[in-house]
Amino acid sequence: MLNRFMVVSWVSRTVHSLVMAAKYNVVFVLGGPGAGKGTQCAKIVEKFGYVHLSAGDLLREERAKSGSEYGELIDGHIKNGTIVPVEITCRLLERAMKNSEKNDFLIDGFPRNKNNYEGWNKEMGDKTDLKFVLFFTCPLEVCTQRCLDRGAAGSGRTDDNIESLKKRFDTYMNATMPIIEHYESKGLVRTIDATRDVDEIFDEVSKLFA
Ligand SMILES: *[C@@H]1O[C@H](CO)[C@@H](O)[C@H](O)[C@H]1NC(C)=O
Ligand SMILES: *[C@@H]1O[C@H](CO)[C@@H](O)[C@H](O)[C@H]1NC(C)=O
Repeated sequence: MLNRFMVVSWVSRTVHSLVMAAKYNVVFVLGGPGAGKGTQCAKIVEKFGYVHLSAGDLLREERAKSGSEYGELIDGHIKNGTIVPVEITCRLLERAMKNSEKNDFLIDGFPRNKNNYEGWNKEMGDKTDLKFVLFFTCPLEVCTQRCLDRGAAGSGRTDDNIESLKKRFDTYMNATMPIIEHYESKGLVRTIDATRDVDEIFDEVSKLFA
C-alpha cells in the first residue's frame, strides 16, 4: 500500500536526484596572462575527459560573430583590457555547457573579479558544483616574456602586446587576486608553480584529477 508519505518522499527523492544529476561539475582555472593555462587545460581535456571552456575564447568568438548583440561591447573591453559584464560571460558559459554532452568543465580565466564572482554565484551557483580552483602562479617577468613570444609567433591575439599586457596584469593583480584569496580562505585553491616545463607542471596537475 502506498500512503501519501511514501509518495511525497518518492517524489522528493526523484526530484532531488534529477536536480543533482543536472549539476555541472566545474573547476575554475586562474593565473596571470602567459601562465600556461591553455596548454594545461588541453592536457587535462585529453587525459581526464573534461570540456575546456575559456571565458576569453568564448568572448572572442562572440565578438567575431556577425550580428552578435554583444560584439561591439566585448570588442571595447578586450581592447581596453577591462572585464566584460558578468551577465554576458555567464550566458556564453551556460550556453556552452548546455550544448555539451559532458558534465565536467574547466572554466579558464573566470571569475576574474568580484563582479564575476558574485554574478556567477547568482546566475550559476545552483546549477554547478565547484570542485576546486586551479591556480597557476608565475612571476610577471616570466609571463610577460611568454606572451610576447606568443605574440611574435603569431598567436593572432590582438592583446599580446606590451600595452595590453600591462593592463591585463594590473587588472589581474587588482581584481583577480582578491578572488583567489577569497577561495583560498574557503580551502578551495590548488596552487601550481607555472614556471617549470609543461610536463613537470602537468604531473602535478594530474594528481588533482586522478
Ligand atoms: C574603452 O576606453 C575608451 C577610452 O577610455 C572609452 O571611451 C570606452 O568607453 C571604453 N570601452 C568600454 C567598453 O569600456
Ligand atoms: C591597480 O591598482 C594600482 C595601484 O592601486 C593602480 O595604480 C592601477 O590603476 C590599478 N589598475 C587597474 C586596472 O585597476
